[in-house]
Amino acid sequence: MVGKKAQLHTLAIDIGGSGIKVLVLDEQGQPMNDRNRVETPNPATPEAVITIILQLAEGNVFDRVSVGFPGVVRAGMTETAVNLHPDWIGFPLANVLAKHWDRPVRVVNDADMQGMGAVSGKGVEMVVTLGTGVGSALFLDGRLVPNLELGHHPFRKGETYEEQLGRLALEAIGKKRWNVRLEKAISNLDHLFNPDWLYLGGGNTKKIELDLPKNVKIVPNVAGLLGGIALWRT
Ligand code: BGC
Repeated sequence: MVGKKAQLHTLAIDIGGSGIKVLVLDEQGQPMNDRNRVETPNPATPEAVITIILQLAEGNVFDRVSVGFPGVVRAGMTETAVNLHPDWIGFPLANVLAKHWDRPVRVVNDADMQGMGAVSGKGVEMVVTLGTGVGSALFLDGRLVPNLELGHHPFRKGETYEEQLGRLALEAIGKKRWNVRLEKAISNLDHLFNPDWLYLGGGNTKKIELDLPKNVKIVPNVAGLLGGIALWRT
């Protein structure tokens, strides 16, 4: 008798500057439980963040793990972490978690993971995430250019996109002026990358009060976790 093949369950983790979120996905990328979220600790050292991840994961059954990290990630090592803590520079996050759970773990930049959950796979698609930091990802026919760090590039008035549009800027200048800036940023990015689609993600998309151009779409924040399944397609 041929038995039914067991489903692989993926634990998707989104480490953010203000919240850490987890969700278990089935093989089709559908959530199997409600998203669980805890505030990011301060200071957000590797030790403090990993302690929270382990607590959030407790009680979940999973076969593999996908992590979105708010900085440059290469081969499972975190290389930058502007909104977390300098101790993340050169930290072997994938190895540490894989050893702990004895499961395969893949770690990528958070905007890259969000993008994987959002893009259609056709043409030039760009993703910009608006949260504590400003994240970005670029795809050609569904293929990712990893670690695009637009957030730390000059935007206007001697400041970067993140300095002008990140959480601190939003709190400092309020929603109205932030929307004016966002409109300028969208126009800049459209002229620079000429994307077929520009997706806006992240918690602060709920503050958007613009008539968006036709090729710009807002994606739900949960895409950050749903992208976790795409990491295993390659
Ligand atoms: C980091 C990016 C990250 C973004 C959103 C930026 O400060 O440099 O890697 O994607 O924040 O979390």
